[in-house]
Amino acid sequence: MKQRIYIVGAGAIAGYHAEAIERYAESEESRPSLYVTDVNQAALAAFAERFPWATPVEQLALMLDEPSREDDIVIVATPPVTHADISIQALRSGRHVLCEKPLAMNREEADLMLRTAEETGKWIGCCSSRFAGLQITEEVKGLLAHGTLGDVYQVQWVQRRKRARTGIEYQPQSRWFLNRSVSGGGTLMDWGPYDIASLTEVLQPERVEVLHAWMTNPATGHPIEAEANSEVEQHVGATMRFHLAGGAAVTVQYERAACCHGEERSLAEIEGTGGAVHWDWLCFDGHGELKQFYDVNGEAEASQKKVENAPLGMMDKPIVYFMQALAGQQTPAILNEQAVFNFSILAAIYDCIATGEVQTIVKAEGARR
Ligand SMILES: NC(=O)c1ccc[n+]([C@@H]2O[C@H](COP(=O)([O-])OP(=O)(O)OC[C@H]3O[C@@H](n4cnc5c(N)ncnc54)[C@H](O)[C@@H]3O)[C@@H](O)[C@H]2O)c1
Repeated sequence: MKQRIYIVGAGAIAGYHAEAIERYAESEESRPSLYVTDVNQAALAAFAERFPWATPVEQLALMLDEPSREDDIVIVATPPVTHADISIQALRSGRHVLCEKPLAMNREEADLMLRTAEETGKWIGCCSSRFAGLQITEEVKGLLAHGTLGDVYQVQWVQRRKRARTGIEYQPQSRWFLNRSVSGGGTLMDWGPYDIASLTEVLQPERVEVLHAWMTNPATGHPIEAEANSEVEQHVGATMRFHLAGGAAVTVQYERAACCHGEERSLAEIEGTGGAVHWDWLCFDGHGELKQFYDVNGEAEASQKKVENAPLGMMDKPIVYFMQALAGQQTPAILNEQAVFNFSILAAIYDCIATGEVQTIVKAEGARR
């Protein structure tokens, strides 16, 4: 019997998922059956025209009413305000859920999604896995595992763009990106899921404290922003402490800007008493640079190398990793407790800003993968 995949929301990202499903299938016969629904019938019709092999369904309830099969997957590809509700409905229909990033609007919603997954015996995964499993990340993890960097004490994760303003430059037709009550927030909700996914993949913390955080929205004369009266943050920062499995505590200086007036910068750097490493954590071109810094007889030395990555594209990873994980394979899919832990770190940055209080997030014990 054919694998069945259901997509809720027929917008921009849904198209990438459909392409990924098509690419991953070795033949038309082995391609999963795809069903799609959207509250906007025009969006649904446009999707059906672009992917004639997909079956459009007018309503979510109709789609989920069909009796479920063990390996059915629902991809939730709608704006964040709907993620928890749709995911919970899909889990209760007896289907696994792969939800777009950000997983939810807040920690309460994310916890409820996890509880529902546990109650129904289904999996909840998050599409924040787009940069997971890169070979370059494996190399950085290897340096940590072998103690090459000595005692690790600081990570600097600084990702600053001058004018990449969330939803303005790249998707002006989706104004919901600028509306906090629909998006949950600005650049932290948009890119933060990938930042946190990479940070947790590399450092594998068991507990994270958000010690201090801030956010702002630098003034810009962009006409769409003025018209939409954007209320979401475009620049955010946090000082966190990651508690690692072996007991070490590492300070993480985090910053992301989709609009700022200072310099553009992209730095992913880990420093330890024995050396430092910084690396291209995105590898957009399929390869990236890894630089190591160390001491030789009192002199500061450095070396660098290019690392090639597996051919799986960033947009293909979420659904491919999820299907592989369901098939029992080891993959970097971000699932269940890990998905909620990662999201909770991100949400805790907002909570720290709102309350001015330190927030602590603990990874659930005995986590299912
Ligand atoms: N666009 C991207 O490049 C991109 C990349 C990665 C992740 N994402 C994530 O994917 C999600 C969707 O983003 P998008 O860019 O595709 O948005 P979009 O605006 O292009 O599409 C969203 C679609 O969801 C539909 N929708 C809204 N509420 C619905 C509901 N209750 N039931 C059914 N359909 C509903 C809308 O009508 C719309 O067609 C977001 O969480 C976003 O962060 C987007």
